[in-house]
Amino acid sequence: MSVSGTTSTLVTREHFDYIAARTQAEDPFLVELKEAAEAAEIPAIEIAHEQARFMEILLKAAGARDVVEVGTLAGYSAICLARALGETGRLVTMEVSAKHAAFAEDWIRRSDVAERIEVRQGRGADLLPGLADASIDAIFLDADKPSYGSYLEEARRILRPGGLLLVDNAFAFGYLFDGDCEEPSVLALREFNDSLAADPDFDGILVPLGDGLWVARRLVGDDSP
Ligand SMILES: C[S@@+](CC[C@H](N)C(=O)[O-])C[C@H]1O[C@@H](n2cnc3c(N)ncnc32)[C@H](O)[C@@H]1O
Repeated sequence: MSVSGTTSTLVTREHFDYIAARTQAEDPFLVELKEAAEAAEIPAIEIAHEQARFMEILLKAAGARDVVEVGTLAGYSAICLARALGETGRLVTMEVSAKHAAFAEDWIRRSDVAERIEVRQGRGADLLPGLADASIDAIFLDADKPSYGSYLEEARRILRPGGLLLVDNAFAFGYLFDGDCEEPSVLALREFNDSLAADPDFDGILVPLGDGLWVARRLVGDDSP
């Protein structure tokens, strides 16, 4: 056995259980929110708790104040991210489904970060153009995958220099390497991964948490990776 290798250790289910066991526990409010969402027949497709914790730490380290999310679902990730922004922080979260948006608004209202979050109901493609150039510190994409290419263009425009682009589902729901899978979301995610990796305006890295999370910094001018 060599212990001096420089390549990554292959991560298994056991490692993820190990990580989960060493991640600050989910608080009772978030557990209750997930149970209520299930009872309301909202799909349980929120981000993993470990991924939420990782993004909270990132946003805190970056000193983020103004954050945008596309894809609210029940409000789980919005509440987690808003907790990282401090008293003056603000998170705008966009959701196309009226049912999901109403559920999320209700639970956000009862949360400890109600004052920091605004739910905007509508399509990300219609709402993002309403945001000013270079006005936000971070954006989290977690909605319709075929639109990720156009969301990337909006992110390029609205992120301030050094701002963070966070994108979920880079592992395409487990179908990344399934050559037989031609599902439009999977094809869109493969294409998105390749274009973000080659994009000179972003310095990004794919993190194997949840279903694969892109973390990328918006580069401007002579800022280099
Ligand atoms: C994976 S879920 C989001 C999970 C959420 N970020 C969390 O972790 O708690 C995706 C959500 O995006 C919404 N969505 C789908 N297409 C959208 C669009 N074009 N614009 C905004 N939201 C959209 C879906 O209705 C769904 O609620």
